[in-house]
Amino acid sequence: MSNLTQILIIVAIGLHALAALFWAGSSANLARTGGMGAEILFPRQMGAALIATLTGGHLWSALHTGGFGPYEMVLAFGVLCAFIAAGIQGAVVGGSIRKLRAGGDEAGLRKRMAGAYRASAGLLALALVAMVIARFI
Ligand code: HEM
Repeated sequence: MSNLTQILIIVAIGLHALAALFWAGSSANLARTGGMGAEILFPRQMGAALIATLTGGHLWSALHTGGFGPYEMVLAFGVLCAFIAAGIQGAVVGGSIRKLRAGGDEAGLRKRMAGAYRASAGLLALALVAMVIARFI
């Protein structure tokens, strides 16, 4: 492995862990606050999800293209959980924020967002555990 390849992997895993943990942690927090502050954090969360996906894709292509064994299966389970979480947040939270800005019923919309954040935080916790334990399976 060349020095540059190694440096790119180190940078990617650092950014990946940082972005993914921000995404998961802020989602869990927004579930607890009933969606209060989602307007500010949601765009940053989608940015973090994008960074986690791009860096995760790079890590996969650099480290896991040799075959699809138990390690990759557990990682793929984590990736699937993360994609479902992103879909839920994009659709439910993104949609609720748009309705909120258009003057929709705040209490109902916050409740919807809190539910979406609860579900997605659970999925992101599963993704985190899968990513961390995958190498030991
Ligand atoms: C969005 C799509 C994602 C992809 C494609 C992806 C892919 C990967 C890959 C390929 C690795 C490297 C595994 C290795 O060292 O061989 C990794 C590591 C890691 N991922 Fe992800 N991941 C994603 C999302 C997430 C999410 C949502 C979290 C946490 C909530 C997360 C947390 C981690 C952590 C903590 C590591 C480092 C594990 C370790 O080295 O012990 N990832 N990910």
